[in-house]
Amino acid sequence: MANAKALEFTIERNSAPVEANERAKLLENPGFGNLFTDHMVVIRWSENLGWHDANIKKRGPIQMNPASSVLHYAQEIFEGMKAYRLADGSTALFRPEENAKRFQASARRMAMPELPVEVFLQSVEKLVEIDRDWFPSVDGGSLYLRPFMFASEVFLGVRPAKEYLYMVIASPAGEYFKSGATAVTIWVSEDYSRAAPGGTGAAKCGGNYAASLVAQAEAIEQHCDQVVFLDAAERRWVEELGGMNLFFVMDDGKLITPPLSGTILPGITRESIIVLAREEGLEVSEEPYSIEQWRGDATSGKLVETFACGTAAVVTSVGMVKSRHGEFTIGSGGPGQLTEKLKSRLVDIQRGLSEDRHDWVKRLF
Ligand code: PLP
Ligand code: COI
Repeated sequence: MANAKALEFTIERNSAPVEANERAKLLENPGFGNLFTDHMVVIRWSENLGWHDANIKKRGPIQMNPASSVLHYAQEIFEGMKAYRLADGSTALFRPEENAKRFQASARRMAMPELPVEVFLQSVEKLVEIDRDWFPSVDGGSLYLRPFMFASEVFLGVRPAKEYLYMVIASPAGEYFKSGATAVTIWVSEDYSRAAPGGTGAAKCGGNYAASLVAQAEAIEQHCDQVVFLDAAERRWVEELGGMNLFFVMDDGKLITPPLSGTILPGITRESIIVLAREEGLEVSEEPYSIEQWRGDATSGKLVETFACGTAAVVTSVGMVKSRHGEFTIGSGGPGQLTEKLKSRLVDIQRGLSEDRHDWVKRLF
């Protein structure tokens, strides 16, 4: 099934799309996650038919039976990726096959059917094409794509469902962090874990985010932008933020990032940064780094920068870390020099401003 060929899509254009003037106004200040385009993708899976009934149609509410399994047992996964308008006016995706493969890996972990890579790519490309007028006009803007899949079977028994809906929606996006800050403040969650060994931490499933929200609420209460999770077993090793991976920059230029131990999400930005940093001649080590080391190294000056990275937030410096045991500042508390350099290296490739040596950029039209 995972290698099945492309599907035939039925395309039904929205007959009442958002009017051009109104759309232009919305696109001046999109923020993150507020705005949605005119269309969406819907594909069905059933045990009998496999993947079928591929549609692109007007974005709108879907009917849910209250006994749909996802509403009870949270069998749901998603992806996050961006389409970019390049400097030459063309449109591109960044490493979309990696999202497709991670979506399959998430599906396997959640006992869901794997969407063929080819169909995943078709679905996002077709949506970008039909909603091509929805690219934000703001600096750094992009069209954020959210493919997702959930158990739609009407059944309350606890077992993998036999029917699923795969969908893609698109959301014009600007900055992820509302404050527009050049460095963010992080709250260390000491009471809550996001993921445990053997759990679902490496899958991009909604349940992981549900589990993170009480800690994220605590972070907001503490006037922090994001929460950082420690490992569940020892409550000691720094893992990742609620929606981003982390890198630590040492004074000798070495970078450390937590290893993919199965409890953190294998970020595509993380992997790209590792490649780009090594190209710059920097040493990058995937090794456990503890909260005590973080505090000690920041205080002694051995640690000069920390940054978070992910599709939505791109690359963002961490300026300050707070916990119930006090707080510490990283470097000057502002944006880090190497962080900014690596961010530019990445963004320039994504935007077609510098050479794409790794064939990461997939041009669409
Ligand atoms: N970690 C978590 C928990 C995330 O939600 C994300 C965002 O997708 C990331 C890391 C970064 O992953 P990526 O770089 O593939 O967007
Ligand atoms: C992303 O970066 O795409 C994410 O999924 C993180 C967050 C918005 C959930």
